[in-house]
Amino acid sequence: MKDKMKICKHFGECGGCRFQDIPYKEQLVEKENRIKKLIENYGWKIRLKPIQFSNPWFNRNKMEYSFADQGDIVCGLYSKNEKGKVVDIEECLIFSTDAKVILKAVKDFSRKKKFSVYNKYSHKGFLRNLIIRETKFTNELMIGIVTTGCQDLDKEEFVSVLLQSILDNKICSIYWIVNNSLSDAVIFETKHLLYGDKFFKEKLGNFVFKIDIDSFFQVNPRMAAGFYQKMVDYTDISSDKNVLDLFCGVGSIGIFFSPKAKSVLGVEVSEDIVNIARQNAKINNIGNMKFIISDARRFLNIQGEPYKDIDLLIINPPRSGLSNKITRAIKRLNPKLILYSSCNPDAFFRDLISLWENYRTDFVEPFDFFPHTPHMECLTLLKKIDL
Ligand SMILES: C[S@@+](CC[C@H](N)C(=O)[O-])C[C@H]1O[C@@H](n2cnc3c(N)ncnc32)[C@H](O)[C@@H]1O
Repeated sequence: MKDKMKICKHFGECGGCRFQDIPYKEQLVEKENRIKKLIENYGWKIRLKPIQFSNPWFNRNKMEYSFADQGDIVCGLYSKNEKGKVVDIEECLIFSTDAKVILKAVKDFSRKKKFSVYNKYSHKGFLRNLIIRETKFTNELMIGIVTTGCQDLDKEEFVSVLLQSILDNKICSIYWIVNNSLSDAVIFETKHLLYGDKFFKEKLGNFVFKIDIDSFFQVNPRMAAGFYQKMVDYTDISSDKNVLDLFCGVGSIGIFFSPKAKSVLGVEVSEDIVNIARQNAKINNIGNMKFIISDARRFLNIQGEPYKDIDLLIINPPRSGLSNKITRAIKRLNPKLILYSSCNPDAFFRDLISLWENYRTDFVEPFDFFPHTPHMECLTLLKKIDL
């Protein structure tokens, strides 16, 4: 049965969201069943909490579109049916109503300028990607065009075209990002701020977060505030407890914990992101939070030595999850509680097995941060067992 109210015109061809024709309630049941099966496979007696859901439309705060030359310049997402083909996106119902206006303006501008498009086989050409980020609570837009450095972008005209397209002062920053790398991923080799502020600001609960064009931030902010608050509530943290937020990003999770904890230490590999995290702690008047720039494993094995007295370890790693070396180092650190969340259920369960020798949990809770896609976030609280 189709959800006739809202199905994107690109559904069926666009590889962005695959489940739009499945009513949202059924999507949630399918996701719960997937986690239920994973729990059964491992034979664990743990409770599956009901999946937390979000508004399935216009929830994402970021999209990364690709340019292609398909007779004309197109910009959109890769086709799920034809390898290498880009679906020329005109609307994006999981993202923003402004996306179609921005996409049209950038495509018209690029066609008028007769820009070439980067070809990943010949490594020639100019246009690569278009990044759009939208805050959901503060009504701001950040736009970044990604090109190679083989020619100049007509910067002034690009900015003026964009500012004319969105008329309500919603655009807070416009970037030109140069990426000459051979990788398919967007690499932010050089960031030129063409207009506005370096950062945009999002508000989650009582906190404000500065975010850069290339820093990680939960893609579904309307769900994130409740998710972070739940994390705090589950741990029952008190003012005599020390918290370590191991992959802290711009500090979001740790900042939610800081009013209740004695101290929060954030560890993050990127110096740029730590600088933003420090600013986020400052603008939220957080006085008990410190940050260390370090690879997580290196921190646990070497730099972490003076920070042994950890009551709660928070782990929200990249999609790939934890390496065996990190899980071994975590066991040596020996925190009483581990709050673990991941956007990759397979990596999440694999890592739980590694920690199972010393830790137990009695629940897993899925969060549907990514409606219409197979993805979801899983959360659990692990408690140290007496060995
Ligand atoms: C999934 S994000 C989580 C960010 C943060 N917890 C949040 O909710 O906004 C993972 C973060 O880990 C950082 N990271 C990736 N590899 C790392 C490593 N080896 N050591 C420390 N941090 C790492 C990334 O830069 C990114 O900011």
